[in-house]
Amino acid sequence: MRSLALAIFPFLTFTAASEWLDLEPRSSGHFNCMGRLDAKKIANNFRDLINLEFNTTLARVSMTPNFHDYSDGVNELVNAGCPGPNTLGEATFSSREEFIMGQSTQPPIPFQILNLWHTCTSVHLRWRSSAPGPIHPELPVTGLVAIDTVPNPDGSNCEQPWLMETVYSEFNSGAWLTDLGNFTASCTKAGTPKKPNVMMKAKEACDEVETESNVQSNVQSNSTLSTVAYARAT
Ligand SMILES: *[C@@H]1O[C@H](CO)[C@@H](O)[C@H](O)[C@H]1NC(C)=O
Ligand SMILES: *[C@@H]1O[C@H](CO)[C@@H](O)[C@H](O)[C@H]1NC(C)=O
Ligand SMILES: *[C@@H]1O[C@H](CO)[C@@H](O)[C@H](O)[C@H]1NC(C)=O
Repeated sequence: MRSLALAIFPFLTFTAASEWLDLEPRSSGHFNCMGRLDAKKIANNFRDLINLEFNTTLARVSMTPNFHDYSDGVNELVNAGCPGPNTLGEATFSSREEFIMGQSTQPPIPFQILNLWHTCTSVHLRWRSSAPGPIHPELPVTGLVAIDTVPNPDGSNCEQPWLMETVYSEFNSGAWLTDLGNFTASCTKAGTPKKPNVMMKAKEACDEVETESNVQSNVQSNSTLSTVAYARAT
């Protein structure tokens, strides 16, 4: 046993040493796996770009020039429920400068981080905005963001060791459009939806079919039964 241990030990030492070498700083000068504080820094940078007076310097020091942001939630807000100008499924911003141009015109929006997770190179957060628009009573908006990062090429930058490269962000744009006043829901006094139009139209269509089918007595009696059943169910 002793000789076996001795035989294995040098091998283990060698393996550990080579693994350690892999964990040594890359050319960027940083370790290639972020820690909890690095993840928090990324999450807070993302939040600050949304909920503070827009800071162009912060955007430039925290994102890569090739930054991309994919968000149909944002595309839908830009489109205000119309088919354009943004194409759903495509990048909302295709560079850091595009992001700066778009985001810098937005007023600060309340943004609270609810959960934070991370891998070696990505940060994931769940967030809530209590009132992202001027309409009251407001609907809170909750969303999820996945942020892919790269080590800062400036290896001596201890303030921003990781840079945001790609953001995938989705959220409740229905509530947000309501908060902006771009969508007005049809509600009862109790605050619940009035009977959805699509259902009422479906019922009218069924009633027409029933009238047409009066020619055949069997069908009529079956339709009459189903109309009664429908009326009871609604
Ligand atoms: C903007 O961001 C930079 C970089 O993080 C920071 O040094 C500066 O204090 C910020 N400016 C304001 C007004 O917060
Ligand atoms: C959406 O709401 C914003 C903010 O209230 C308003 O400026 C804009 O004109 C609205 N857009 C549409 C298409 O209704
Ligand atoms: C009427 O309903 C009965 C029972 O559901 C069914 O057996 C019959 O085929 C229906 N008749 C027609 C004309 O659809």
